[in-house]
Amino acid sequence: MAVCSSPGKVILFGEHAVVFGEPALAVAIDLRTEVTVAPASEWSVDRGSIDDAHHKYVRMAVEASGTKGPLRIAIKSGIPESSGMGSSAAVTVASLGAMHAIRGGVEPEMVAREAFDVEHSVQGRASPIDTSTSTHGHAVLVLKERGSDFLWRMQRGERQWYLHHRDIPPMTFVVGHTGVEAATGPLVERVKANCEKSAKARKMIAEVGQITLDGIDAIQKKDWATSGQLMDRNHKLLNALGVGHDKLDELIAAAKPFSYGAKLTGAGGGGSMIALTDKPDEVAHAIEAAGGRAFKVLTGQRGMEVSIR
Ligand code: MEV
Repeated sequence: MAVCSSPGKVILFGEHAVVFGEPALAVAIDLRTEVTVAPASEWSVDRGSIDDAHHKYVRMAVEASGTKGPLRIAIKSGIPESSGMGSSAAVTVASLGAMHAIRGGVEPEMVAREAFDVEHSVQGRASPIDTSTSTHGHAVLVLKERGSDFLWRMQRGERQWYLHHRDIPPMTFVVGHTGVEAATGPLVERVKANCEKSAKARKMIAEVGQITLDGIDAIQKKDWATSGQLMDRNHKLLNALGVGHDKLDELIAAAKPFSYGAKLTGAGGGGSMIALTDKPDEVAHAIEAAGGRAFKVLTGQRGMEVSIR
């Protein structure tokens, strides 16, 4: 039997803009999904049918990896679903990692490519940031061209992404989950529609890309005040692009007195916000008092890890 564990992620800067090929920065967090696969006489996921609507990502990972099976698959997820913390990317990467491992070899770049194929087909339109971060771990910076610590390049039509490893200093974030579930695909479509009809929206996407470049600079200098201001601005732009939610703004307002900055993370429309802080207990308390669910997350975690038992 093979076991693969993959981390969730938070996007520090650049969600949505990255779908258009703009820069973005994500870090792997200490919430993980573990997938176990073992040969069996028929296909199953958590003792139920693999055709269950809940197992779309796993079923597509089976297809993408060319696994013949049948396999008994078990999933242990520590990442809340539709929360902006990369649960679908983590289950896809962990499924692919375990299925390749049982056949003999796991190559991170191949897993990242297949996981992106899966996410792209389910969402309709996507960037490779979530799946590459869950595969590689640590911090992943997407750029428009190849730079230092290059990992791999991905392409969809005209759009291309150069993914890079980044070492970033330890940072403390508190994630506030609104409890409002929002599917990523329709939110990505909404931003696309806004950009098709509005030059102002297209300018905002470009500004988010620049915020990522300034953000990685500020983080590497440990300039938390500037990092926080850039997060605040990034959040305003995401709101203006139509992917905000009142509950996100409430949690952000609650966290702000104890934070350098805060923004939605992931697709938005609900989901989660993150706050950069050196007072995580105060922030977590304020988020819970405002009706959210708080997670103190450790950044820069290991990527996909596989073992054969
Ligand atoms: C979702 O975590 C991030 C988005 O930018 C979508 C994507 O990159 O595929 C909203």
